[in-house]
Parts: sequence; structure tokens; C-alpha cells
Amino acid sequence: MPTGGDGLAVPRHVAIIMDGNGRWAKKRLLPRVAGHRAGMEAVRRTIKAASELGVEALTLYAFSSENWRRPETEIADLMGLLRFYLRREVADLDRNDVRLELIGDWRALDPDIVGDLEAARTRLADNRGLTLVLALNYGAQDEILRAIRTIAADARDGTLDPDAIDADAFDARLDTAPLPPLDLVIRTSGEQRLSNFLLWQSAYAELLFVETLWPDFDRAALEQAIATFGRRERRYGGR
Ligand code: FPP
Repeated sequence: MPTGGDGLAVPRHVAIIMDGNGRWAKKRLLPRVAGHRAGMEAVRRTIKAASELGVEALTLYAFSSENWRRPETEIADLMGLLRFYLRREVADLDRNDVRLELIGDWRALDPDIVGDLEAARTRLADNRGLTLVLALNYGAQDEILRAIRTIAADARDGTLDPDAIDADAFDARLDTAPLPPLDLVIRTSGEQRLSNFLLWQSAYAELLFVETLWPDFDRAALEQAIATFGRRERRYGGR
């Protein structure tokens, strides 16, 4: 694990529940979409900071499988921002040596977005810096159920011995299989829930709930979160 300037450990894999866009907008008497737009700028800042601080993987909860319950107009705004982001940012991500991974049932999004996501992933595939992971149409229970279905099918077909199903076999079937183990989950805006995010992967992760609304999140906030992580003692169930 790399260490920051102060000698504290830097988490290899940080995941963020980006919450509070709506409240940020409301406080300013702006429409919710303005909060999401400002949230997109916080996404840019946080990716840059995470790269520079030596984080290996940054997973962002960009659209949950529950977000479909939002009003149609807000869903359209979020998808519009995702389109805009993918088209505007890929060149910059490439310059910063960022790779892209996707988790969730992202292939069920609109075909043009699926195409943009695939194109971005291919373009960034040879980069060796930060791995940006976008959780899109993601729900942890859905991810776990999809993994269970592949396990059940392999057991039924005789290619997997049920006694050989261990944590590693399960990890290997999750969307997060290629990523380093999850070290730190941050949720902004004061809510203290995981909201169906990385439930299996967070078994030993540090959880950090901060009051900052997502659009206000910046490099200093990430540095502070990493410093808090570095001071915590992780025991993994041992003593
Ligand atoms: C939660 O705020 C945030 C979201 C539902 C989506 C996150 C989206 C972004 C940060 C913008 C676009 C991102 C990318 C990657 C292009 P909320 O609306 O639930 O806030 P509230 O709880 O204050 O209402």
C-alpha cells in the first residue's frame, strides 16, 4: 500500500456514494439538475485527486438500480449528463492515464450510452494509472444474485463442485472481480446507509460518513478521508 506524504497508508480501492446533489441545489433555490451538474464537476475533481494521491481504483455510485424510481425527467437529466460526461471527458481521462471499468447491469442502459461506454473503455484499456469504476444501473443484491446464478448453472452442469464454492470463487464471479479489494467506502451528505452498494465487498472495508454534500466534495475532502482511513486500525476479525 503506498503511503501519503504524512506516512499514512493510502487505500488501494475507494468507493463513493455520491449523495446530496438535490439538497445542494435546493439550498441555492436551483433545479435538481443543477445539483447533478455540480456533482459532475465534483466527479472530475475527485478523479484527478485520487489519481494524484496514488489510489488504484475509485468506484463511483453514479446510477443505482433503484434510481429508476425517480421522476422520468430526472432520469433523463442524469442520462444526459452521463452522455455529456463520456463525450467530454474521455480525452482528459486518457491524458491522465485513467482506465475505465464498469459494474452493474450497464448494458441495459440506452444503446447509445452502452456504445459510448464500450468505446471509452476500449480507448482507455491500455492505461496504467487510476482505474475509474462507474457503477451504473448497479445494485449489490442484483450483482450477488447474478453471481449466484452463474454458480448454480456451473454446479448444475457439473463444471463446479459445490464443496469448492468459497469466498474466492464467489469474488471471481462478481462485477468487481478485476479490482483490488475494497478498503474504504465514503458516503457524503450525512446519510449513514450503504443503500445496496458493494454489500459483499464492504465486509472489511472502512466506512466513512461525511456531512459534505457531494457537489462540494474536493481534493481536501478526499485527503481528509484518506487521512482518517490511515489512522484507523484494521483488524479483519483478528485481535
Ligand atoms: C445523489 O444525489 C446522486 C445521484 C443520484 C447520482 C450521482 C450523479 C452525479 C454525481 C452526476 C453525474 C455523474 C457522472 C459520472 C456523469 P441526490 O439527488 O440523491 O441528492 P439528495 O439526496 O440531496 O436529493
